[in-house]
Amino acid sequence: MYDKMFSEDVGSFFRSPVREIFKRVDLNAIYSFAGGYPSADTFPLEEIRQTMSEVIGKYGGQAFQYGATQGVMQLREAVADRYGVPVERVQITSSSQQGIDVCTRVLVDPGDVILTSSPSYLGALQSFRSYRADIRGVAHLTGIDAFCRAYEDTIAGVKAEGKKIKFLYMIPDFQNPSGESLTLEERKILVALARKYGFLIVEDSPYRELRYEGEPVPTMYSIDPDVVIHLGSFSKIFAPGFRLGWAIAHPDILDKIYVCKQSLDLCPPVFDQYVAAEFLRSGRLDANLSASIELYKGKRDLLLSLLEQYMPSGVRWTHPEGGLFLFLTMPEGFDAVKFYDKALDAGVAYVAGEFFHPDGSGKNTMRMNFSFMSRQRIVEGVKLLADLLSREL
Ligand SMILES: Cc1ncc(COP(=O)(O)O)c(C=O)c1O
Repeated sequence: MYDKMFSEDVGSFFRSPVREIFKRVDLNAIYSFAGGYPSADTFPLEEIRQTMSEVIGKYGGQAFQYGATQGVMQLREAVADRYGVPVERVQITSSSQQGIDVCTRVLVDPGDVILTSSPSYLGALQSFRSYRADIRGVAHLTGIDAFCRAYEDTIAGVKAEGKKIKFLYMIPDFQNPSGESLTLEERKILVALARKYGFLIVEDSPYRELRYEGEPVPTMYSIDPDVVIHLGSFSKIFAPGFRLGWAIAHPDILDKIYVCKQSLDLCPPVFDQYVAAEFLRSGRLDANLSASIELYKGKRDLLLSLLEQYMPSGVRWTHPEGGLFLFLTMPEGFDAVKFYDKALDAGVAYVAGEFFHPDGSGKNTMRMNFSFMSRQRIVEGVKLLADLLSREL
């Protein structure tokens, strides 16, 4: 009876297959490589309790009042100092998922093209589709010439159709789902393409500070601060339950985001922002982050060595230098969606890679998370999955 009452946008909504998995099973009852959850061991409960009490002592009722739409000044300044940007360029968001959504809302009309890597982050694809964007995925080809040509060809194709590219959405650091990063040269090429063809780049970087080896690569924002909107998040470096992130961009872009956010949520969660600001300023965030990096590095190394030891031949995987995921490729013909029920019946979960490919390709791929489960459960889970795959392949 309600069908005729919904907006046209609603017809483009699609459910997250990851969240559907969570509805079907109790994550703690199975071996779950599926979600992107941080380990609850990284949440510094005692320090959070102490900081909350300090915030109430320092700010009283103001900590529970409505706040500025741009975010509370203490947090904007702390973020600006941490990343070396002017405070006028910092907007606090109710997490980076909102950052993605709000960018799409202010930049895209139905039918406009959004370029992204293929695979790409599922939550972003959900947001893009909900605004009826035309999503074009570009495979990450190796070799700088091939990389560049893949983007140039896609852009030329879009132009030939008379369509408009509004922005390129990229996760340059330890991508979700692949775990891979863009080199400096690749970042420079994409920024140059944005300048050449007149589109913006939304650089989504929630995993940037979870680096386990190698040197940080400059952000795309630092290469050209006027064509890049940089999105960050406290979810993976602090705790996702606070639902806090930030957008760094040219003030003219932020102004539109600011007005849009007035209608979305008036302001980001005020108490949470004061807590995050105190956490940053006191150095507690960095101390906790160092411990989280140690923990995750160990889990990544463990998962890589287990895959080496137990996976049947023909299975390949990425070697991420950071982040929370790696990506498996099985031989052609394998279907990770079909295999999923068998895996779940046996008690192990992953996310099928095709959900991350805008064109539905990547059927023989899967994403594995290594942050959520304990080391012991990672061992048991990999043995189980490898055994199932050995019988299937
Ligand atoms: C690439 C990417 N962007 C954004 C998000 C959303 O994070 P949050 O909204 O918690 O900041 C995620 C979450 O997993 C992600 O992987």
